Amino acid sequence: MTDSKKHDVLIIGSGGAGLGLALRLADHSINVVVLSKFALTSSSTYYAQGGISAVFDAADSIESHIEDTLDAGAGLCDPDIVRLTVTHGKSSIEWLREQGVVFTEEQNQSGETQLHLNREGGHSHRRVVHSADATGKAVSLSLIERAQAHPNIELLEDHSVVELITKPNPDLPNQKQVIGAYVLDTPNNKVITMSAKVVALASGGANMAYIYSTNPHSSTGDGIALAWRAGCRVSNMEFMQFHPTCLFHPEARNFLISEALRGEGGRLVLADGSSFMEKFDPRGELAPRDIVARAIDHEMKKRGIDCVFLDISHKSEEFIKEHFPTIYQQCLEFDIDITKQPIPVVPAAHYTCGGVLTDNYARTDITHLYAVGEVACTGLHGANRMASNSLLECLVFAERASEDILKIISTIQINTHIPDWDESKVSDSDEEVVVSHNWNELRHFMWDYVGIVRTDKRLSRAMNRVELLKKEIAEYYGNFRVTSDLLELRNLVIVAELIIRCAQQRKESRGLHYTLDYPETDDSQPAQNTILTP
Ligand code: FAD
Ligand code: SIN
Repeated sequence: MTDSKKHDVLIIGSGGAGLGLALRLADHSINVVVLSKFALTSSSTYYAQGGISAVFDAADSIESHIEDTLDAGAGLCDPDIVRLTVTHGKSSIEWLREQGVVFTEEQNQSGETQLHLNREGGHSHRRVVHSADATGKAVSLSLIERAQAHPNIELLEDHSVVELITKPNPDLPNQKQVIGAYVLDTPNNKVITMSAKVVALASGGANMAYIYSTNPHSSTGDGIALAWRAGCRVSNMEFMQFHPTCLFHPEARNFLISEALRGEGGRLVLADGSSFMEKFDPRGELAPRDIVARAIDHEMKKRGIDCVFLDISHKSEEFIKEHFPTIYQQCLEFDIDITKQPIPVVPAAHYTCGGVLTDNYARTDITHLYAVGEVACTGLHGANRMASNSLLECLVFAERASEDILKIISTIQINTHIPDWDESKVSDSDEEVVVSHNWNELRHFMWDYVGIVRTDKRLSRAMNRVELLKKEIAEYYGNFRVTSDLLELRNLVIVAELIIRCAQQRKESRGLHYTLDYPETDDSQPAQNTILTP
């Protein structure tokens, strides 16, 4: 008999989406458990730099934020979802301030204090609310502190979901209902059963599918794979976003150089100091990300160079240290003084625009299963997410999901008869090297064949390798006791398959999906989402 736990709501993930949802529910006497597979701060949320987009500037407008988002999304955003999200910008920032988040302020010309707003790519106005260059840390630490103090919230670190548990929905033929999850309690090395009336995936993106990524280790697409295996549709996985400027240094791992540097006049240059962005887009350094990342990739491949450079050294030392203290300090640790010299940068996998298909209340195809934040595909980002719209989406859809859950939770019975996790046929692994080798192989071929520029041939090469890995991993999973690494690899290979399948289905280039075989956008018919059904 394994351990078992019961809660009203089980939330998988302790980033902005998961904690946002937990705090919104817990105030209504709902008993919530939040899981994180590592430390509570091991989330993309914690590492977010630039900020959160919301309309505060008198010269800006909701309509303009909507227009910029639709433009970046290259014809695939859902206009209703964009409006819904953007109109909640101001209230989401106010909610964060109520939770104790402190944002950077400035004095306006009349001497009043107001929020300082960053500018980033794709935005036609200054519109990004931020805490210097460490917005995510400010958000994450405040929400964790609130959640830790809340009597209705239990936070469990080092707990990794193995599988969702479902049963047939008694009221709807052909529909499943989620009733809990099997969870690996890593420190105690055992799989426990957690029952819940409602389960919410808030497990982040899948950007660790690539060898170069700006993301923390936790972004292995677990929620997308869990939902897919349980029977949810997944959409638009071909739109993996590559951030143009990740620090290039042999000892630096995954350190982002925020787009806000370009917003403050940072120039992209080659080693000889010459600029190149003007050749690619009239907006130059502030063109949407897909265009900037592709331009850098093009220059690197054409010239056979390892990186390009981002130069902000024309700004005063005082300005740089005040606005970008984290980036300044981190680069200095690698002997790069950004007040005096350009920063070596390369593009890296950053954001998963696709994910588990959800509606405007974050509901998935499975009854009582919600997906909030980067794990979901709400329709907000279309073919390319605009900078700083992601934390906003986490907050808005956490609120939407909470509204829906509060309406239905009193009608749901908790399930008590869930069978224990069966470990009778497995033993401890004696070949962990299989996991680390396959993990590396997958991330390399995804970078080489399913990266910024694709072709049919590269995609089919990648798919052949996925097929082989899937067989090997399934055999390993069937024979050995689960570990956190094995679970991640099993999920990553599914996510890689979903990315490749979506990319193979799109016979055009659009937004973040660029293929040399179909280099043009197909405007002969309305743009279509790529929807995969299990
Ligand atoms: P995350 O914050 O990634 O949280 C996921 C959580 O799920 C983690 O707690 C993880 O441990 C947990 N988890 C995952 N799998 C499991 C499992 N199997 N079992 C249990 N727990 C699990 N966006 C912006 O809008 N503005 C920015 O300035 C910005 N800057 C960024 C900078 C960086 C370096 C990065 C990486 C991203 C940035 N983004 C930014 C994107 C944004 O941070 C993310 O999209 C957003 O934070 C995602 O939040 P989330 O809650 O959905 O997921
Ligand atoms: C950045 O600060 O450049 C990241 C912003 C984002 O990903 O939204």
